[in-house]
Amino acid sequence: MTGEELVTRAEQAARAAYAPYSNYLVGAVLLLKDGRVYEGCNVENAAYPLGVCAERTAISKAASEGVRPGDIAAAGITASPCGGCRQWLHEWLVERVYFRRADGSLAEYTTGELLPDSWDLP
Ligand code: THU
Repeated sequence: MTGEELVTRAEQAARAAYAPYSNYLVGAVLLLKDGRVYEGCNVENAAYPLGVCAERTAISKAASEGVRPGDIAAAGITASPCGGCRQWLHEWLVERVYFRRADGSLAEYTTGELLPDSWDLP
C-alpha cells in the first residue's frame, strides 16, 4: 500500500470517529509488516481529557491482538499527529508515518524525524 493509499484509507476510517464535542474526525491506519491492517478513529468523552486519539485507538486495537513494537511498517493518518501520539508511534517503532497536510499534500516522515532526541525509559 502506498502512503497515499494509507491516508485515503485513514480518511475512510475517520467516518467512524466518535467526536461529538470537537466535531473533528480523525482516522489512522496501521500497515503491519505481515500485511495485516488495523484502523482506528478518535473516541471522545464528555470528560474531555479522557478522549482517545485515532492513532492510539489503532495501536491499542493491534496491541490487544498481540502486535508488538517492531511489527508495524507504516501508519497513515488524516492529519499531523499530536505530540503524545508521536511518542506512541516512537514506542511502537512505526517505520514510516504518512499524513495529510492542511493544504492536501502528503507528508512522509520517520518517527525519528517527528520526535527527535526522543525520550525512552532508562
Ligand atoms: N486527535 C487525534 O485523534 N489525533 C491526533 O493526533 C490529534 C488530535 C483528536 C483528539 C480529539 O478527539 C480531536 O482530535 C480534537 O482534538
